[in-house]
Amino acid sequence: MDNLEQILQEAQAAFAATDNAAELEQVKARYLGKSGALTELLKGLGKMAPEERREAGARINQVKEQVEQALQARRDAIQQKELEKQLAQESLDVTLPGRGHGQGGLHPVTLTLERIERLFASIGFSVAEGPEIEDDFHNFTALNTPEDHPARSMHDTFYVEGGDLLRTHTSPVQVRTMLAHVAKHAHLERLPELKVIAPGRVYRVDSDATHSPMFHQVEGLWVGEDVSFADLKGVVSDFLRGFFETGDLQVRFRPSFFPFTEPSAEIDVAFMSGANRGKWLEVAGCGMVHPNVLRHVNIDPTRYQGFAFGMGPDRLTMLRYGVNDLRLFFEGDLAFLKQFN
Ligand code: FA5
Ligand code: MG
Repeated sequence: MDNLEQILQEAQAAFAATDNAAELEQVKARYLGKSGALTELLKGLGKMAPEERREAGARINQVKEQVEQALQARRDAIQQKELEKQLAQESLDVTLPGRGHGQGGLHPVTLTLERIERLFASIGFSVAEGPEIEDDFHNFTALNTPEDHPARSMHDTFYVEGGDLLRTHTSPVQVRTMLAHVAKHAHLERLPELKVIAPGRVYRVDSDATHSPMFHQVEGLWVGEDVSFADLKGVVSDFLRGFFETGDLQVRFRPSFFPFTEPSAEIDVAFMSGANRGKWLEVAGCGMVHPNVLRHVNIDPTRYQGFAFGMGPDRLTMLRYGVNDLRLFFEGDLAFLKQFN
């Protein structure tokens, strides 16, 4: 039975030499498996005399139990070690600095719109809104725009089913605001002054470096008893100086035509930086509200008059930052957009 003692010692040593569960199960097979050393000895019992068999059987079983104990002890040890390893890997170092959340930023055109609203609020203009899907009356007819005006054609304007359209400018908000203002003050002998800006998205079939099919406008409207073209020039010039915060600003008012203003002008500003430095860019159309427009909203043009403008905040953003293609603002390229925050 020296043999049994040797098997036990070997098994204990072999178990101790393993360091993972799979290896341990393989080693186990060498002793306790179908043709393992102890199993073979138990098989041999059949050939022994009954006396001998009882004693040998007891001893083999005793060793078998010891081998099984050694196996279980090693299994527990390996499991414990693996648990500790896992705990160490998953542990949190609470003293590490936080990862932080990426901070969002405002779109450059949004920054411009906020500046515009702030500057006009400071001289008493409130903000008005209108729908982006407009009807023909507000977008064209009430604005004295004739049936054959090119803006009404299919290839300049996005129409939706039923004849409505994506507004081509923010000027329809003039009409809506004046109608609401007149209705609200119908009981008064004198119509109070109306001073609003209307920022928002507008749509045209346009696409080049200074035109995007979706762009923004900010309408301005001041109606009262003695509002003049001089007020228009003063308000717009002051605004542009405040917006660009520079003494270098070059601005020109260029005579132009709109069906809904008379006289009319377009306003150009020269690039102060970037590849287009020195070149003129049109930023707005403007003029004195046409008497026909006032008549459409039941305001007496012999008593009241006003000025209006519609400017392009996307273009103001180009000028402010020296960007030479306006479409860059709308491509959603974060590398480009992050520069403005
Ligand atoms: C108008 O839309 C008139 N409604 C402006 C107006 C309002 C005149 C009130 C008189 C009284 P215009 O088409 O020129 O006018 O556009 C006005 C401004 O919008 C332009 O000066 C330009 O700054 C901007 N703009 C026009 N089209 C685009 C475009 N496709 N992409 C970006 N900006 C544009
Ligand atoms: Mg124009």
